[in-house]
Amino acid sequence: MDYFEIKESKKLYGSVKVSGAKNAVLPLMAASILNKKKIKILNVPTLSDSITMSKLIEEMGGNVQFDSDDSIIVDSSKLNNPYAPYDLVKTMRASFYVLGPLLARFKKAKVSLPGGCAWGPRPVDFHLKGLESLGVKISIENGYVVANARQLVGNKIHFPKISVGATGNVVMVAILAEGTTTITNAAAEPEIQQLCKMLNEMGAKISGIGSNTLLIKGVKSLKPIKEVSVIPDRIEAGTFLIAAAAVGGEVEIKNIIPEHLESVTNCLLKANIDINVRDSSITIKSDGKNILSTNIETNEYPGFPTDLQAQWMMLMCLADGTSTIKENIYYDRFTHIMELNRLGCNIKLEDSVAIIEGNKNLIGADVMSTDIRASAALIIAALCAKGVTNISRVYHIDRGYDKIEKKLTNIGANIIRKK
Ligand code: UD1
Repeated sequence: MDYFEIKESKKLYGSVKVSGAKNAVLPLMAASILNKKKIKILNVPTLSDSITMSKLIEEMGGNVQFDSDDSIIVDSSKLNNPYAPYDLVKTMRASFYVLGPLLARFKKAKVSLPGGCAWGPRPVDFHLKGLESLGVKISIENGYVVANARQLVGNKIHFPKISVGATGNVVMVAILAEGTTTITNAAAEPEIQQLCKMLNEMGAKISGIGSNTLLIKGVKSLKPIKEVSVIPDRIEAGTFLIAAAAVGGEVEIKNIIPEHLESVTNCLLKANIDINVRDSSITIKSDGKNILSTNIETNEYPGFPTDLQAQWMMLMCLADGTSTIKENIYYDRFTHIMELNRLGCNIKLEDSVAIIEGNKNLIGADVMSTDIRASAALIIAALCAKGVTNISRVYHIDRGYDKIEKKLTNIGANIIRKK
């Protein structure tokens, strides 16, 4: 099993080109089931999650071809088996995204329930209730969602809590349902915006994109499109911003949409980090010192993303004084605390609020990745820790970060992948 050996880093200098967004490419690949012809997806990140989604599409009878220019061609013309098996869904929860498009295309689907994840239960009840309101009959059999729909009919759907995945799944069915669907408390995340825009290009009629209310006028059929380019990964960009802030140096983060990162750049400014925002890049300057403790709460977009909570926590371990982080999306998403504490951090948890004592001198140790973003926090910590840190289970990071060790090495980090 691969692990990373990371030495304390000198300051980081140079530029990093951000890859396409993991959380955008996965729903776009699922949506290509509705395209029924070849579609070229550009700016695809090289991730094990993109490969898992391609395996799933191939298992169902489609074809996915990876090209050397970071593009893939998904051909769903012969896809004929609306079945997503447990062994693929369990490794990647986003596989559940195929449920909506399969139902819209075949009026039936059998998709494994995803199960829990490292930081606790992640239910799919909003997906299922939303689909039921559109006329889908659902039963749970042997750990599978077995869904059938004679007729799909639009409805009013209100999600009790904003859900990215449930919004995506329900939208992909509502676009082909009879009549109108309104979704209130819908997700406004940029990745869902891109999915909706792609569906509209295919002939869907979704309005309110980017707000929390979506109005969807059902259409009889869609028309295939030839190409879509994945938006930049705001979480990868945020991770590099936080890494540069923590280690120090001057780094330009390129190929991004700065607007998607406003909550993060605002917090960096509050933390006394110097940033310069341009049209498609942000340059960050930091001496890795004089970081001000800054409290955050995670929230749905445009709030501070839960996917950057672990990395921010690491930054706050270097800040002056005490800070807090309240996690509002996943109350249990704190597995990284114990690992960060092994490196000398001082973090306590009280009622879903992490209390971080800053000004810590970190010392290298053996630590373990527990999920994609926790691993990113550990990498940043390792770069700031004296001596050597070995991070095991880096398969987590390979799920969500495209060539992270190469990108970091290019700006001066000392990080080696070992077997
Ligand atoms: C997506 C992202 C993930 C991110 C998360 C929150 C992808 C592939 N993954 O995950 O990186 O951390 O959004 O921004 O895009 N919930 C329910 N019932 C449901 C669905 C969700 O209770 O049926 C709850 C969840 O437990 C959580 C909250 O709603 O508390 C938000 O989850 P959701 O937005 O659905 O996350 P994902 O789409 O799985």
